[in-house]
Amino acid sequence: MSAVDWPATRDTRNPVVYEMQKNNRVQIFPSILAADFGNLSKAVTSLDGSGADAVHCDTMDGRYVPNISFGPMVVKAIKPHTSLPLCCHLMIEEPENYIDAFVDAGAFEISVHAEACVHLHRVIQQIKAAGVLAGVALNPSTPLCMVENVFSDMDMLLVMTVNPGFGGQSFIPEMLPKIAMARQMANELNPDLNIAVDGGIDVKTAPEVVRAGANILIAGSSVFGHPEGVKQACAELRSAFEDA
Ligand code: DX5
Ligand code: ZN
Repeated sequence: MSAVDWPATRDTRNPVVYEMQKNNRVQIFPSILAADFGNLSKAVTSLDGSGADAVHCDTMDGRYVPNISFGPMVVKAIKPHTSLPLCCHLMIEEPENYIDAFVDAGAFEISVHAEACVHLHRVIQQIKAAGVLAGVALNPSTPLCMVENVFSDMDMLLVMTVNPGFGGQSFIPEMLPKIAMARQMANELNPDLNIAVDGGIDVKTAPEVVRAGANILIAGSSVFGHPEGVKQACAELRSAFEDA
């Protein structure tokens, strides 16, 4: 797939994703970092019709984070196995060098880390010019003021609720006021902004982050590690925050 026909494909295949602000629906993006890498195609196919709204793809380079996962080749390989949009979380240094590769692989949205971009404004524009949605991720120790001057440029703010690099870590509760503050800033600066949370999201933490103002929940272990499968996991997550 070329970068040129990607936006059309994006619109026809998934017109509702990222429209949440209009219908006030919280979305669930399972992270395949917790899936069986020996059966990745099966894992992503299982998300179709499960209640998941997109697939979260975690790319790690062993430099920005102390772990190595997968790159655009794997994103491209899983693309035909799901109708869900692929959202790519780049935990890598110099992400600007790989934007085109992820767009060509079929990314719907690309998130870069603010801490990894010397010229964050330029990278956001680069992502948008390539025809996909632009997200910016912040580590737990990074304050919101790092993105204050690009707030209206972002399609998604990804608030890390663990230190990036590994699945299965515990949620950091000190991130709750940060999420609330991000939602407050969004109300003033960019009402359409999606606020995603990533790390340690399960039935206990989901209601807390939704109450704080998150509208996209990224969850690895609690979805792929659920003994009754991904559909049941998504249903339990959704009822946890909807009942809250
Ligand atoms: C962490 C990744 C997360 C991870 C979340 O570095 O960015 O997306 O997969 O996994 P859980 O839900 O297990 O914390
Ligand atoms: Zn992630």
